[in-house]
Amino acid sequence: MPGVTIKGLTKRFGEIAAVEGLHFQVKPGELVSLLGPSGCGKTTTLRLVAGFLRPEAGEIWVGDRCLSSPTTVVPPERRRMAMIFQSYALWPHMTVAGNVAYGLRFKKGLPKADRERRVREILKVVQLEGFEARYPGELSGGQQQRVAVARALVVEPEILLLDEPLSNLDASLREEMRFEIRRLHEAFGITTLYVTHDQAEAMVISDRIAVLHRGRVVQVGPAAELFEQPKTRFVAEFIGKTNLVDGVAAGSDIVTRGSLRLRVASADLTPGAMVTVSIRPHEIDVVTDHPGRVLSGGENLLRGIIHRVHYLGDGIDCQVPLVGNDVILRVTAPPSLRVRSGEPVILAVAPAACVPLTEGGE
Ligand SMILES: Nc1ncnc2c1ncn2[C@@H]1O[C@H](COP(=O)(O)OP(=O)(O)O)[C@@H](O)[C@H]1O
Ligand SMILES: [Mg+2]
Repeated sequence: MPGVTIKGLTKRFGEIAAVEGLHFQVKPGELVSLLGPSGCGKTTTLRLVAGFLRPEAGEIWVGDRCLSSPTTVVPPERRRMAMIFQSYALWPHMTVAGNVAYGLRFKKGLPKADRERRVREILKVVQLEGFEARYPGELSGGQQQRVAVARALVVEPEILLLDEPLSNLDASLREEMRFEIRRLHEAFGITTLYVTHDQAEAMVISDRIAVLHRGRVVQVGPAAELFEQPKTRFVAEFIGKTNLVDGVAAGSDIVTRGSLRLRVASADLTPGAMVTVSIRPHEIDVVTDHPGRVLSGGENLLRGIIHRVHYLGDGIDCQVPLVGNDVILRVTAPPSLRVRSGEPVILAVAPAACVPLTEGGE
């Protein structure tokens, strides 16, 4: 089972660099998501990996084979890869069995009986037994998606490529299919590159996530690492909600902004440097309504006034302008806390929850 290595990949369309100097790796048997907003170069990357596009610079390696470079592009059908599209791309005039068998069209020497057996087996895996004779028009969106998955798996590809395969499904089915894709990945262990703009989907499905911004990979890591240790403003804001506070390092682990003084997680800031600190709204405790609560000495205690309270069921969302400076923090409090607009409060934030972004810029 080979992995995929992308080295300095660049693809331009006229003036636009859709993908620029891309580097990342999918290890053997790993599922990596490419996550980013619309237009950031996800589909272009996938089409480069599939062999539909020629790069202007860089290389794509699968195991010890270089499949793409500016001078050579191994054609898609010789890459031992299968791709699943957002639109499913099923043949409407072919039955379910016919569509899945179509995936085997390049396996020339395969006897008919083996072909039929493999189609039957893979339909069982995606839980579509008994649907062999139906046409795509007689299936729900989720079932059509399963046919597309079966057609990709039936060829036993070395690499599986998926481009936003769930975005045409309604919300509840989309969630169910996330688990289904993860289950299939665990069953088959095929090296997989999965493209999505949906952070929750990427978090459920992936071993690691590569965040793409304007044609570049800005950070790669497991979901928890990206959420807890974002390196850039873009990653901090794209994965979950956050507060970003711009300030100046006043010590190795102190960031100030006006009268605000925050003790932060890192201990190696350069005094005088500009620093942006990311604080997740649910990591901030509203403490005045807990008279019994013991404040630990290490916490940052900040005075503020509750503002714009929104009850969301599983939490209360509010804005808290701090007293004495221009910072407004967004706070998610537990729903049991009956905070009221205009109420003065103290916010407690553990230094570990104040994460300085290590890379400047966006
Ligand atoms: N065939 C093409 N011709 C011209 N521009 C393209 C083409 N394909 C993609 N682009 C441009 O490249 C950028 C990245 O597109 P794409 O890879 O489709 O993004 P994503 O899949 O992340 O939404 C966009 O600005 C898009 O308009
Ligand atoms: Mg796309």
